[in-house]
Amino acid sequence: LHDITEDIRALAHRARHVAVLSGAGISAESGVPTFREVQAGLWERFSAEDLATAEAFACNPDLVWTWYRWRQALIQQVQPNPGHLSLAAWQRALNRRGGSVTIVTQNVDDLHERAGAEVLAHLHGSISAYRCVDCGEPHELPRPDYDGFQSPPEPDPTPPCEHCENGLLRPGVVWFGEMLPVEAFEAAAEAIRRADLVLVVGTSGIVQPAASLPLLALERGTPLVEVNPEETELSELMDYCVRGTSGQILPALTSGLS
Ligand code: APR
Ligand code: ZN
Repeated sequence: LHDITEDIRALAHRARHVAVLSGAGISAESGVPTFREVQAGLWERFSAEDLATAEAFACNPDLVWTWYRWRQALIQQVQPNPGHLSLAAWQRALNRRGGSVTIVTQNVDDLHERAGAEVLAHLHGSISAYRCVDCGEPHELPRPDYDGFQSPPEPDPTPPCEHCENGLLRPGVVWFGEMLPVEAFEAAAEAIRRADLVLVVGTSGIVQPAASLPLLALERGTPLVEVNPEETELSELMDYCVRGTSGQILPALTSGLS
């Protein structure tokens, strides 16, 4: 809290159009494990990379399906944390003054929205948006009702598509090796080009092409600030790195702005 330099606070206070690129770290303090953290129980044998691919789904749809339903159940049971909440408040405050805080996230959860923020782009999709693997028809499903996360859920059969009666349903997330939604990526790139301050929060900067977005700010000389307890692949591009958790740093950075 106290190691935010006046420089960084001054940057935040001067900015009119802020772009934020968030990753799994911003939801960590809500209790959503990041992708590179070891999962408890059932999932500890699997890496995210093993579960988050089209190949994995083709080989073992029920395993992949159950993993995503389990994650969705977890997400719906947790709450936004002060990191999400302070970004939402900053967004409202700058909107009132004709400015903007544009949020671009790699997260498939809805914690920014539940904190009251508007998200411009979910670069990696949304865990609660389902579609058919064959015909692409979107599907709405009831919320999963797993209770507690200590015991593994029963394997859940992957539901078939009622539209084409041919394909299986898949979560609306972007798997490793898949294309990002082009419009979401373009909108994100534009927001970063327009910004006069870019915050990179809770992302390891490993997964492309999302990790290339901060380069657009670098090209323009736009101040870049990283909020992350650890050094990342992107740290050396930054003008400032604030080493702390987003739940602590973002409220401190934005206090007095709303
Ligand atoms: N506050 C801020 N950052 C945190 C916190 C916290 N409380 N806890 C952890 N972090 C940081 C970690 O130091 C790490 O740099 O969050 C980052 C999480 O990294 P990843 O798990 O790699 O998450 P992310 O960068 O979002 O991953 C990108 O990879 O698995 C795919 O599609 C998935 O969207 C995901 C993408
Ligand atoms: Zn179908």
